[in-house]
Amino acid sequence: MKFLTLTVLVCFYVKNVLTSECYWNTECKYNFFGSKTPYENVRGDIRDSVVRTEGCEAISIWVIMRHGKRNPGQIFARYIQHILKYKDFIVSSYEVGNSSMCAQDIENIKNWNVDLTMLSKPNEMAEEGYQELLRIGNRINEAFPELLKELQKKDHLFLPGFGQRLKESAKAFIKGLNQNLTLENDTYDYQIVAPYSTCGKYQVKVRRNPDVYQEEEVYKNTADYINMKERIIRKLGLSFTFSNQDITAIYDLCRYTSDGISNKPCPWCAVFSTEDLQVLEYIDDLRHYYRNGYGVSQYSQRLGQMPLADLLRKFEQAKNRKGKKIVSYFTHATMMDMILVVLNLYKDTNPLTGAHRDINRKWRTSFLSTFTSNMIAVLNRCSKPGQDEYFYNVAFYWNEKPLLDLCNRGVCSWQEFEDIFKPFLNTTITEFCEFKWKNID
Ligand SMILES: *[C@@H]1O[C@H](CO)[C@@H](O)[C@H](O)[C@H]1NC(C)=O
Ligand SMILES: *[C@@H]1O[C@H](CO)[C@@H](O)[C@H](O)[C@H]1NC(C)=O
Ligand SMILES: *[C@@H]1O[C@H](CO)[C@@H](O)[C@H](O)[C@H]1NC(C)=O
Ligand SMILES: *[C@@H]1O[C@H](CO)[C@@H](O)[C@H](O)[C@H]1NC(C)=O
Repeated sequence: MKFLTLTVLVCFYVKNVLTSECYWNTECKYNFFGSKTPYENVRGDIRDSVVRTEGCEAISIWVIMRHGKRNPGQIFARYIQHILKYKDFIVSSYEVGNSSMCAQDIENIKNWNVDLTMLSKPNEMAEEGYQELLRIGNRINEAFPELLKELQKKDHLFLPGFGQRLKESAKAFIKGLNQNLTLENDTYDYQIVAPYSTCGKYQVKVRRNPDVYQEEEVYKNTADYINMKERIIRKLGLSFTFSNQDITAIYDLCRYTSDGISNKPCPWCAVFSTEDLQVLEYIDDLRHYYRNGYGVSQYSQRLGQMPLADLLRKFEQAKNRKGKKIVSYFTHATMMDMILVVLNLYKDTNPLTGAHRDINRKWRTSFLSTFTSNMIAVLNRCSKPGQDEYFYNVAFYWNEKPLLDLCNRGVCSWQEFEDIFKPFLNTTITEFCEFKWKNID
């Protein structure tokens, strides 16, 4: 944690001293890409951050996580295909002296070819996504060596929601645990791991309702957004303008192909300044806020309570020595956002709006719902010398960093834990959802 803060400070310092405008030689590239941020760019490390208290031992772990980095969806892949045709314009504009891009940045764009499988296999998990899950599995295994030693069938539950990339994520994670385990047969229980996916009312009133993106549309007509677009066109020296869709496509190209684990940025990111990237980042924050977050809290509250009630049940069982050593659910960003709403975390006093981008906002998808974003809860059993009675606490981590805003810097006594989670036990969604959504995607 300390180290991380320090490097960030150093980066800002260096950046202010050298006003180099090239991308290729910028030491600290801005790599927060909203909900498409590679996990590596923001993660902590559970091996370092795990809270160890004398007299306590971990007896159960409950994890919920988003799938790993994936390819763009079909429509966005098509936008990217389209924008790739502009490469020649960008290069020739530079060659005739119209562009203020750096020579090396242009050369890198010129020589770079997109991996076509990324575009031909929409939504499939990317290799980096596989690595993200494998590696977090490794780290969890190393952080809890005693607890996870030689897991037996009765000790674990791994449950992906619907879809190939959730299953792939589960398999990668299980492999990362480095034990003789395989994904059990699909005992899908979307009620816990992805209740929104089958909730008719949510799917119709929110998920598939274009009004959800109203604030995003407002934002795209603000000076903040329009200036960003103009900066890019001026920098490239183009004699035509980009549509908003083109800008989205270049941003997607930049972020989907920037590799966090091998630390290989995409040359196309050179088109953007840090400020441009911050403008684009805000769009994801708005989208998530009004689709899964505080902007639709009557839905997110209710649906987000389903997995959290399960967490309490699982830890009650573990406390009674009838539980699992590890429970892991694999889901979508939607679920992660909803969990934050239920726990009242990263809530801004003023709602996010398209009219105003608050640079100090708490709701930042770049830190909250990145690829492989996760919440880890650890049940610890503790004893004091000379006392027979055990007592318990629950430690919470988000993206492998302590969830400092919960209880005592992320550690709740059993009582505090129950006080927060018990009200969720009675939550039901059948009536609330009105009908079952069958066309899950
Ligand atoms: C360079 O800029 C001029 C003036 O705007 C424009 O007419 C010309 O088409 C541009 N050339 C290229 C290759 O972009
Ligand atoms: C792995 O598990 C399978 C089935 O549970 C078992 O047959 C096999 O012997 C195990 N292999 C090792 C190396 O423990
Ligand atoms: C796994 O699920 C499939 C489909 O539901 C079923 O046909 C198969 O028998 C199951 N296998 C096991 C080992 O339970
Ligand atoms: C849940 O419902 C039961 C039965 O209606 C009730 O007795 C209990 O107090 C409720 N628990 C909570 C935490 O609301």
